[in-house]
Amino acid sequence: MNEVAAIKVFRFDPDKDKEPYFDSFNVRVRKGLTVLEALFDILENQDGSLGLRYSCRGAVCGSCAMHINGYYRLACQTQIENLKGNEVIIRPLGHLPVIKDLVVDMRPFFEKYESIMPYLITQNGHSETGEQFQSQKARAKIDEMIDCILCGCCHASCTMTLTDKDYLGPATLLKANRFYIDSRDKGGIERLKLVDGEHGVWRCHTIFNCNEVCPKYINPTRSIARLKRGLIKNKILGRI
Ligand code: SF4
Ligand code: F3S
Repeated sequence: MNEVAAIKVFRFDPDKDKEPYFDSFNVRVRKGLTVLEALFDILENQDGSLGLRYSCRGAVCGSCAMHINGYYRLACQTQIENLKGNEVIIRPLGHLPVIKDLVVDMRPFFEKYESIMPYLITQNGHSETGEQFQSQKARAKIDEMIDCILCGCCHASCTMTLTDKDYLGPATLLKANRFYIDSRDKGGIERLKLVDGEHGVWRCHTIFNCNEVCPKYINPTRSIARLKRGLIKNKILGRI
């Protein structure tokens, strides 16, 4: 395989462009070439002003999440030969402000994440240092959720994060559940209160886009349903 791929890239510099547009590039494709490597080719050989974010290049850091041919994916995990269609169309993550080209402002995403206290809460209400034991069985319950790399693909794919900018979104709710069901955590009721209300779990309309796009094959919808059940049960018992 040694073909040329036509690549269209979203461009927008809010400091000088009135509106976004697409730039077209041709990149020589070899077997296994990823979208991230194609973007490096553009950056190094065709247009050094292209803005993109990346770090690990191994599907671990989540920095290169973007919209590629209709799906949110990690550019480093996506090989061009596996994409359908005659061209590769790349846009930034959705539902977040564009800083430049493919770089979005992740602050709204991480502010929501921070709001659910993403750390263990101990008996006295504080995070605690030092070793805290957990059985293998209890650890297995959080295995899937620990794999979340906070890439934002699920957040960008969810229709509700578009229509309600305050909706916590699938990644944050997944992490809320990760701590809620952690055997070492003592913040159960406090955590449930943080995800209750119109911008919390009840805003999820069970659309499932989040599950479909997750590059780590995680199921945020299941976590959201778990939190909803926890809320209903504890409301019936009068604890909330
Ligand atoms: Fe990314 Fe999946 Fe985590 Fe969402 S749940 S932030 S898609 S790794
Ligand atoms: Fe959105 Fe996932 Fe719920 S896509 S509406 S968070 S099931």
